[in-house]
Amino acid sequence: MALLNILRYPDARLHKVAKPVTDFGERLAKLVADMAETMYDAPGVGLAASQVDVHEQLVIIDISDTKDALQVLVNPEITWYSDDKQVYDEGCLSVPGIYDGVERAARVKVRALDQHGKAYELEADGLLAVCIQHEMDHLLGKVFVQYLSPLKRNRIKAKMLKEERGLEREAALRAAGRRY
Ligand code: NI
Repeated sequence: MALLNILRYPDARLHKVAKPVTDFGERLAKLVADMAETMYDAPGVGLAASQVDVHEQLVIIDISDTKDALQVLVNPEITWYSDDKQVYDEGCLSVPGIYDGVERAARVKVRALDQHGKAYELEADGLLAVCIQHEMDHLLGKVFVQYLSPLKRNRIKAKMLKEERGLEREAALRAAGRRY
């Protein structure tokens, strides 16, 4: 297994639209295992393949406290949204340190395949419903900050870019063998 690099907002690759998974072989099994390791390490409760620069319809979620209830959703489709809404403070591994309220359907029904290609259905509410909708947005190239006001979004973008320059500078210094 290996830790994968998570793309950071506003990386343009986060806005690519994912294609359906067609191959359920070893490559997918390895991708799921690597994504799970990456998500648990981060730590996070969900990760979409788009966030690790693989633009295929694959999402993993684990909202359990014990971190032993991995859910794999391949080619997921939301078949029903409740009319009632809920607002949750969301965060995202691609937008570290930022949390803000997003309104979404309180309950959803999803149809998906597991990592072996077997179809299943799922009805979700609470955090799981939030997480499914958040991760499935990633597959459409959408990041949760796009629900926020342009003012907030621009502030977040500026903060992320500033942090990125800091990280790049650090990496360059490390590569040059300098320590401070
Ligand atoms: Ni996210």
